[in-house]
Amino acid sequence: MVISVANQKGGVAKTTTAINLAAGLALAGYKVLLIDADPQTNTTQVFIHPDIEIDLEKTLYQVILKFAPLTSVIHSTQVNNLSLVPSHLRLSSADLELAQALDNRSARLKQAIDEVRSRYDYIIIDNPPSLGLVTMNSFTASDRILIPVSTAYFALTGLDQLQETIAMVKQTRLNPDLKVLGVLCTFCEETNVSRDVERQLRRYFGDQVFQTTIPKNVRLEEAHSNHTHIFNFAPKSTGAKAYADLVREVITRQ
Ligand SMILES: Nc1ncnc2c1ncn2[C@@H]1O[C@H](COP(=O)(O)OP(=O)(O)OP(=O)(O)O)[C@@H](O)[C@H]1O
Ligand SMILES: [Mg+2]
Repeated sequence: MVISVANQKGGVAKTTTAINLAAGLALAGYKVLLIDADPQTNTTQVFIHPDIEIDLEKTLYQVILKFAPLTSVIHSTQVNNLSLVPSHLRLSSADLELAQALDNRSARLKQAIDEVRSRYDYIIIDNPPSLGLVTMNSFTASDRILIPVSTAYFALTGLDQLQETIAMVKQTRLNPDLKVLGVLCTFCEETNVSRDVERQLRRYFGDQVFQTTIPKNVRLEEAHSNHTHIFNFAPKSTGAKAYADLVREVITRQ
C-alpha cells in the first residue's frame, strides 16, 4: 500500500508522522520504503546526517525530473526493513521545471513506484506543505492519503482545499482509486482549543478520524534532532506509545 502523508499547512507533523509510522511498520516486520518528497529534506536528515552530502543523482529529484529508476536512489537505513529515497534542495525547483514538461508530468512518481511496488508492504511518502506538482505526483502514485491536522490552533481552514484537490485527482482519472486513509489529530493537549479542534474534526470527518491521537511531546522533536525515530530514542514516551497505536490502527485500516 502506498500512503501519502499530506496537508498543505506547514508544521502539522507530516514529517514526524511519516518517519515514526514508517519506522513502526518496519519494526513490526513489514518491508517499508520511505520517500522524502519535500525539498526541506527533514525526513532525509533523520536517516542521513546533514554533514554527509548526498549526490543529487541519488535522490528523488533524479526520478521525477530525469526519469531515473527508483532502484537507483534507494538507500538502506539503520532500521531493519526500512529503506529511504532521499530528497534534495534542488527538488524545490521541481514544481517549476515540471510545469514546463509536456509529457506525463503528474504520473512520473507513479511510474517509478509501480516498478518496485511489489517489493514493499508499505511505501510512505512525506510531502511538502504545498499542493504543487510534486504533491500531485505523490497523490497520483498513492492508494491512500493520511492527513495530520494540528489541534494546537484552529487549523481547519485549508482542509476544504485539500479535499477538493483529492477529488480533482480522482475525477481527472489521474488516480480514480485514491482514498483518505484517515485524519490524524496531532499536538493534542488538555486545552480548550485542542479539545475543540478534535471535536470539530470528529464531527466533520466522523470515522475517518483515527481513534489514536498524538499528544504534544517534546521527545518527538528531540528524536529528530538526534537523527532517529521515537521508538529508538524514547520508547516509553507518550509520543512512542501514540505512534505505536497509530501503527496498529494503520495495519487494520485499508
Ligand atoms: N506531537 C508533537 N509534540 C511536540 N513536537 C512535535 C510533535 N510533532 C511534531 N513536533 C515538532 O514540531 C515541528 C513540526 O513538525 P513536522 O516537521 O513533523 O511538521 P511538518 O508538517 O512536516 O512540517 P512542514 O510542513 O514544514 O514539512 C518539528 O520541530 C517537530 O519535531
Ligand atoms: Mg515536513
